[in-house]
Amino acid sequence: MANVIAIANQKGGVGKTTTAINLGGALAEQGYRILCIDMDPQANLTVGLGINLGTVERSVADVLADSRATMAEIVIPTQTTGIDVAPATLELASTEVELFSAIGREHALREALDGWVDQHYDFALIDCPPTLGLLTINALVAARSVIIPVQTQYYALKGLTALVKVINTIRAKLNRDLRVLGLLPTFYDGRTILGREMLDELRELGDHHVFNTIVRNTVKLGEAPLTGRPITSYASSSDAARTYRELAREVIELG
Ligand SMILES: Nc1ncnc2c1ncn2[C@@H]1O[C@H](COP(=O)(O)OP(=O)(O)OP(=O)(O)O)[C@@H](O)[C@H]1O
Ligand SMILES: [Mg+2]
Repeated sequence: MANVIAIANQKGGVGKTTTAINLGGALAEQGYRILCIDMDPQANLTVGLGINLGTVERSVADVLADSRATMAEIVIPTQTTGIDVAPATLELASTEVELFSAIGREHALREALDGWVDQHYDFALIDCPPTLGLLTINALVAARSVIIPVQTQYYALKGLTALVKVINTIRAKLNRDLRVLGLLPTFYDGRTILGREMLDELRELGDHHVFNTIVRNTVKLGEAPLTGRPITSYASSSDAARTYRELAREVIELG
């Protein structure tokens, strides 16, 4: 069975897309077959995996809006061996609005993956937009678990309550098996007191598992979107690549 993992946090710029790309890279490197699913109209995941948006004819928007369109029709290979992407385009923003008027469309992504994703992939990583709207809900209904990247900076924990509430509601009503795989500390700067305090605070919350892996603030990861490949591929021996390999190990262990 494919392990379907949503990467979510309605706070912007916390490292969701970076985690989807590089966790994908670290898993693909080990021979796992990865599908990266872009649920964000910003399409950063699609572009970050080296896809030119001008060449994308059909996207996740088609699958969500029309239950006859299939994932198989939209998925494209990337430059990275072992990683395919279900691309997004700007169009996804209007699809979300359309979904509002369609009853039962919280399940659109799940229905599109069911029975198909298991045959082709070991992991599906769903990159969520920085909102708690229907696109994120679709991701959380389709997923078996969720990784929540959290910036180890001021206000990072604000908003976590809202996300956890949505996750609990989805678990109660739409996807009983959904579990929080863990909170992932990102943008960590161990030289600052603030960074260290935030990390302690995150661990003291106690409600959820916190990954042992800590993603440090590093220029290398900031450059990543320009290369169109995961860091495990373009800077294979960097600290950041090692970090994502460590995360991959933890994700595999957590099952
Ligand atoms: N650990 C890091 N160190 C330095 N820069 C990083 C790190 N992680 C991500 N970045 C950079 O920070 C920016 C935001 O990261 P990313 O796009 O992954 O966040 P996001 O949560 O997906 O944002 P959004 O909510 O807009 O989708 C990107 O330019 C990315 O390259
Ligand atoms: Mg993003």
